[in-house]
Parts: sequence; C-alpha cells; structure tokens
Amino acid sequence: MAPARAPLSTVALFGATGMLGCTFLPALLEDIVEGYKPTVRVFLRQGKKIADEHAQHPRVQIVHCDYLKGGDEVLENLRGVDAIVSILSGMADVFHYELLELAIQAGVKRFYPAAYGFTQLYRTPGEQGARLHALWNYREIFRQHIKLHPAVLAGKIEYTFIGSGDIWDMVTEPFWCPWTQDRDAYEVAVIDTGDAPIDWSHRADIARYVAASLAKPELSANAELNLPSATISQNEMVALFRKYTAPKGRSVSVRKFSLDDVHRFIADQSLAPPEITANTLIPVDFYLIVKCNEALGQFRRNQWECHWQLFPEVKRTTFEDYMKERFGEL
Ligand SMILES: NC(=O)c1ccc[n+]([C@@H]2O[C@H](COP(=O)([O-])OP(=O)(O)OC[C@H]3O[C@@H](n4cnc5c(N)ncnc54)[C@H](OP(=O)(O)O)[C@@H]3O)[C@@H](O)[C@H]2O)c1
Repeated sequence: MAPARAPLSTVALFGATGMLGCTFLPALLEDIVEGYKPTVRVFLRQGKKIADEHAQHPRVQIVHCDYLKGGDEVLENLRGVDAIVSILSGMADVFHYELLELAIQAGVKRFYPAAYGFTQLYRTPGEQGARLHALWNYREIFRQHIKLHPAVLAGKIEYTFIGSGDIWDMVTEPFWCPWTQDRDAYEVAVIDTGDAPIDWSHRADIARYVAASLAKPELSANAELNLPSATISQNEMVALFRKYTAPKGRSVSVRKFSLDDVHRFIADQSLAPPEITANTLIPVDFYLIVKCNEALGQFRRNQWECHWQLFPEVKRTTFEDYMKERFGEL
C-alpha cells in the first residue's frame, strides 16, 4: 500500500485556454472527489481570457504573464503551488524543460507534463523497422528527462503522465471529428473496413481524471495512468452518428480510404486530399499514422493497461452519451 500524502491543494494550470485545456478548470472546480477543493492558479498570457464565472470563482487565482519567457516572474508565482498541470502544446512544448526547473526551485511537489494521448510507432509496409513521429519523439525525450531527473530520483518532485484515447470532441478538427460541427450534411472518413475497435476519449473525462488523480496523490505519484473513455469502431460511431442526426434531418455519408491510400499520403503528404490538409491544426502525417494504427486495431490498450478502477468517481462518457449531448435525446 502506497504511503498517504498531503493533498495537492494548490494547482497551477498552464494551457487552460487550449482545445483540451479549456475543460480542466471546470473539472477542478467540480468537486469530483468528495472533500477535494483545490485552489487553482491559472497562468494566462496577455490577451488570453477564461469565462467570467471561472475567473470570479473564489478558488481561482489568475496570473497574467508571458510565462513562456520563464524566469523570476514565473518562479515567484509558483511559490505555494503543490502541483503543476500542463496542457500546453505546439511551440509551447519546449517550455516544459524550464517549467520543471522552476517547479523544483519553487518546491512544487508534482508535475503533470502535457501528454493525454497514446504514442504510436509507424510501420511502413515492407520495412522491418518502425519509426516514431517527431512530435511523439519530442515528448518521449522529455518523458525520459523527467523520469531520470536528479530531483525526481531524490524524491523532491513527482510526475504523473495521463494517457488517453483519440479525442472525439476535437472542435478544432472538422475533418476527423465532423460531428463537432453544425451542418446539414456530414461526411465521415472511414479507413479500411472500419471494424477495428479504437480507444477514444471525451475531453471532459480526461480533465475529470486529472482532477481525481490530483485528489489521490498516493495513487498518481510517478505514474503513467491510461484513462480512455470508450473503445468503439469507426462503423459503430457512424451508426450512432446517423441515429442521432437523422431525426434532425441531417445526413451522414461515409468517405472510404484504404490502408494503401493512407500509407501513400504518409509517404507524400502532397497526395493527401486538400480537405484533410485544410481542416487540421495537427501535422497531416501525424494524424494519418493515428488513423492507420486505429484501422489496424493497434490504437487500443487492454483493460490491464488502463486505470479507471483507481478513480470510480469519474463516470466514463460513451460515444452515445456524446451524441445525445451534441444532438439531443431521441
Ligand atoms: N489524444 C488526442 O486525441 C489529443 C488530441 C489533441 C491534443 N492532445 C494533447 O492535448 C494537449 C493539449 O493540446 P491542444 O490541442 O489542446 O493544444 P492547443 O489548444 O493547440 O494549445 C494549448 C496551449 O498551448 C499554448 N500554445 C499552443 N501553441 C502555442 C504557440 N505557438 N505559442 C505559444 N503558446 C502556444 C497555448 O497556451 P495559452 O493558453 O497560454 O495561450 C494554448 O492554449 C497536448 O498534450 C496534446 O498532445 C491529445
């Protein structure tokens, strides 16, 4: 049995205005685990805002600063923080290295680096080896950095990595998540047969699991916790999407891609249809590797690799729950 620890009662958020990050503050204010009511210090760059109801919440503290520059301003504002949760991405990823050092100096006990995914190897047909996309490789290098950091080895600071499935409510990805959009006619990309089960996540579930894991620091210390919401095939998703949109007079058609198509697009992104390239913020080859491995049935963890049983307070959202949320009950 792991030793009991003091609660992580002051949490600093970095990236709270992002696509995924915007769900974290509401989850931390939701009282998911009874008795856990953290104070949340939200770091916001100039010009960035959160909802008034959150900004005025008595447990929310806002720090406006250009935190990506690091230095004393960030250090001073990290004093008294128990845990840092990063939901940063893109060009901000590199800041994790400095943020970790500042956290150690400030006496922060726990660091959640941005993760919330499922690292995938890409295997080109006919090749013996495999490769890791640069975005995952970058994260893997940081993962190794923190795990072997002298302060971690000395027990001065702990880490938690949260793994998830493919996020189905990515509002910024109209091609891969068409159900996030308001349209009369939808087109869903289906790769290969569409029958392979795939791990998916609902953004609010990821955020709630993070909150629950902060509430139980002894279960999440120096741990990698995998918490996808549901496992469901592309075809099952299309069927549910049709079921909940048809009564509203909306149509759903399927656009098939073969695995050969996907491999060709990965090898030469200029061959990928412009509808894909024009409708994503994520590098096209990264997303195609995800879709390829999903179609192959490899984007799935077995139940022994998942950790939902540690946090029974969080109810996992199904894709049908999400369809009801988006399009209403039948
Ligand atoms: N499992 C999945 O399917 C999936 C899908 C997408 C993302 N993710 C993961 O979720 C996490 C967050 O991703 P996201 O898509 O929510 O990220 P995002 O919205 O693109 O960005 C998150 C935050 O990072 C900062 N940021 C991003 N780009 C920046 C730039 N160019 N310059 C300065 N700051 C920048 C911003 O912080 P400020 O708030 O300060 O502006 C932004 O709000 C990442 O770990 C990502 O890997 C997982």
